[in-house]
Amino acid sequence: MSDSAQQDSAFYSRRQFFVVMGSGALAVATVGGIALTGEFLEPNVLYEPPNKFLVGTPDQYPLDSVFFMAKPQIFIIREAAGYFYTLSAVCTHLGCIVNWKPQEGAIACPCHGSRFNKTGEVIAGPAPKPLNHFAMSLTVDGYLQVDKGILVDPEVILKV
Ligand code: FES
Repeated sequence: MSDSAQQDSAFYSRRQFFVVMGSGALAVATVGGIALTGEFLEPNVLYEPPNKFLVGTPDQYPLDSVFFMAKPQIFIIREAAGYFYTLSAVCTHLGCIVNWKPQEGAIACPCHGSRFNKTGEVIAGPAPKPLNHFAMSLTVDGYLQVDKGILVDPEVILKV
């Protein structure tokens, strides 16, 4: 093979190398672009649990009871007179989950010691505000329904 032919062959293989590398880079960029476009077209939705949910029937709750529900972080309270209300179990200080202390008749925060009475009023700080009350209703089927999207005054109760 002549020197010229060897140079042509070397040049050709170098050219082939750059063509293959360029094509590969273009293919990677195209696939990446398609993937990013697909991700962009998909809705960017944050799925949260619904605010409104059923919590059983009134007869499931004894008179003068406090029932903690961990997932929605609420207390369902049924007073001795039979009426209901729902309290948030999230401390109004820094958001810790509070606990019902039946022997003390109080709700206590394990983080910084705030205490609330059974209706959510602050009896010891540092919590700056009472626990939130959520709307509660009775469905036509006879189920108790809580709506965490609606705050109500502490005087609002559900008579069943
Ligand atoms: S978070 Fe409850 S007292 Fe601080």
